[in-house]
Amino acid sequence: MPRGPCSLVRVSATPVAVLAVALVSSLSRCSLLEPENSVVSALSPYFGTKTRYEDANPGLLPDPEVPRRDPELLEETCTPVQLVALIRHGTRYPTTKQIRKLRQLHGLLQARGAEDDRTRAAGRGDLGAALADWPLWYADWMDGQLVEKGRQDMRQLALRLASLFPALFSRENYGRLQLVTSSKHRCVDSGAAFLQGLWQHYHPGLPPPDIADMECGPPRINDKLMRFFDHCEKFLTQVERNATALYHVEAFKTGPEMQNILKKVADILQVPVNNLNADLIQVAFFTCSFDLAIKGVKSPWCDVFDIDDAKVLEYLNDLKQYWKRGYGYSINSRSSCTLFQDIFQHLDKAVKQKQRIRVFSSESVLHIRWPEYWSFSFSISPSNEYPGLMSFRMDWLDLLAVQGTLKSLLQHGNSKASIQSIKCWIPPRKDTPRPRAKEEPQQDVLNQFPLQSSSSLAMQRPFFHCFLSWATSKTRNP
Ligand SMILES: *[C@@H]1O[C@H](CO)[C@@H](O)[C@H](O)[C@H]1NC(C)=O
Repeated sequence: MPRGPCSLVRVSATPVAVLAVALVSSLSRCSLLEPENSVVSALSPYFGTKTRYEDANPGLLPDPEVPRRDPELLEETCTPVQLVALIRHGTRYPTTKQIRKLRQLHGLLQARGAEDDRTRAAGRGDLGAALADWPLWYADWMDGQLVEKGRQDMRQLALRLASLFPALFSRENYGRLQLVTSSKHRCVDSGAAFLQGLWQHYHPGLPPPDIADMECGPPRINDKLMRFFDHCEKFLTQVERNATALYHVEAFKTGPEMQNILKKVADILQVPVNNLNADLIQVAFFTCSFDLAIKGVKSPWCDVFDIDDAKVLEYLNDLKQYWKRGYGYSINSRSSCTLFQDIFQHLDKAVKQKQRIRVFSSESVLHIRWPEYWSFSFSISPSNEYPGLMSFRMDWLDLLAVQGTLKSLLQHGNSKASIQSIKCWIPPRKDTPRPRAKEEPQQDVLNQFPLQSSSSLAMQRPFFHCFLSWATSKTRNP
């Protein structure tokens, strides 16, 4: 899991605007968990990147497919144009490297002189013997692959995002979703599971087809973007392939805090302390977290540790991430520039596009809520020359559509401002001489419409130039 982001999904609200999502980690049902597993709940805050999603966000527990945020909060304050998300992969198996270390530790326990132990069981009971009998169910082939729980994490995340942003995840936008992933198997699989979750959203009850047959197409693999660290020569030289780059981590592994734990664990498990090292201790701790995240069970490996041990082991993991991925070396964060540049370019593009479509919304000035369906053909720009006056261009069909709204605004006014008049005219065509402003035939929209509802006007779909003038309540009621 500590390999940075994994995939990126994009969907757009307008033809070119883009929604980007990229894939993170895990949420699970903990129905399998017995409430008496206090050891697990006590240790899980220290699992770092191996923490189950539901432990980090208990709000997921009642219904993992329903977002907890109030959707109205979002609707009232802004219109989503684009969603960009960088998502980590779902819950996964340990890597082969971790499984081999666990096998080594397990072998140590099985090799203990069985005769001595029977008589020496004390304190926590003979945990060493119990762990020697523990069925090691992890196998090399698992090598960090996504588990079923991880697929579920991703499907549920897709469903939550889709219900949180219904306008972005509309049917017509389905084909505009873009998903970018790293080539890592667990990330490719996470992307596929995410798309299956979305399929469930659009086609409830229907079994999802092959990813290749979905409207949005399969996730695109782009390691240059998603595994930026592998493509940054400076990072590879200074950190990744540099034997001394993590010397703080090595120092901590042999420092007094870890030595303390080594002695304690050697005593509990009844193995010689010289056979243990920080890596083996860490893998035992991870096994507690993996058993919980993957199977939802409390592993006997959790009994080896108390809270103080967990704090030290959490620190060890954090220290490694700090020097290898985090702030330790500036190249660590700088290597991600390509990815973030890509994300911000897509955001900028979406915003520009939205601005071209609707230059300025009057709602902040007039406190009028313009219905969303105007947004693609209706633009309003503030007039600096005339306070209380606003000029805008309006499509003929829109003018027909908004007539009723404008009328009621005029009749009922508004607490902050009242519209006094809306004058509109059809600007002369470019190739005819432009009359002086005063001579332009201005018409009061409300009295003019239905303006002979001439079919020729509808055919031409001319733009009207309009002036809207209003008085604020201060002006009206001094
Ligand atoms: C390796 O890391 C050490 C410690 O940060 C640093 O002093 C050294 O310059 C690095 N080596 C290279 C080749 O960058």
